[in-house]
Amino acid sequence: MKAGVFDSGVGGLTVVKPLLEEKLFSEIIYFGDTARVPYGVKDRNTITRYALEAVEFFKNFDIEVLIIACNTVSAYAIEQLQKDAPFKIVGVIEAGVMALKCKVPQRKSNILILGTKATISSGKYEKFLEYEKYSNIISLAPSLFVPIAEEGLFGSVILEEAMKHYFKDISSPDVIILGCTHFPLIAKDLTNFFPNALLIHSGEAIVEFLKYNFKFSKKFEETKLKIFASDNPSNLKKIAKIWLKREI
Ligand code: DGL
Repeated sequence: MKAGVFDSGVGGLTVVKPLLEEKLFSEIIYFGDTARVPYGVKDRNTITRYALEAVEFFKNFDIEVLIIACNTVSAYAIEQLQKDAPFKIVGVIEAGVMALKCKVPQRKSNILILGTKATISSGKYEKFLEYEKYSNIISLAPSLFVPIAEEGLFGSVILEEAMKHYFKDISSPDVIILGCTHFPLIAKDLTNFFPNALLIHSGEAIVEFLKYNFKFSKKFEETKLKIFASDNPSNLKKIAKIWLKREI
């Protein structure tokens, strides 16, 4: 069984990592739209158009499921993508909410949602969470975290200063939803800043979501990985090599 994984850039690799560990697929085809990242500052129409073009790209491969490893696309375009696609398409937001419900049953927990401007203004996480009766929710769009992650500036002074800037009015949340797949790349830094917060991660969430919704009859010996990018694939492959700790 082959899967496609799509993101605007390197962020979807944080979803690929747990998928490789679980060996649910014989092969993963990854596409990062690095020529047009970031998506999170663009409007609904542009995000949807880019995502539809990505679906066209994946039609060249014999995949059974396409994982939209991008919260921004999952927030705005998932229903439209699902309409005519010849394979199943799953997004990360529903999966993230499912993970939250399993890990955080206390509805009074202080929840901080971090996402791109587009994801936060879609209000999709908030809608799902309110439906599930979570009541203490703050949402924030720390837009600079995306280019910082793309640049690989983990553990840097720049990131430290950006966190101080964005989090100046936030007092220790119980839970942080990493509502952008770029953010697990800076998870260590976020944990240093908020040591008591539980992080909800789209990648781990999607693995559980897939296992719950699809019938996987076996695990594969290994999962092959092919990486494509719309610009500068060597940079994406370099980050993939470090993040996934394997030869690409
Ligand atoms: N990684 C993407 C997400 O999960 C988007 C980052 C961006 O392109 O702005 O939302």
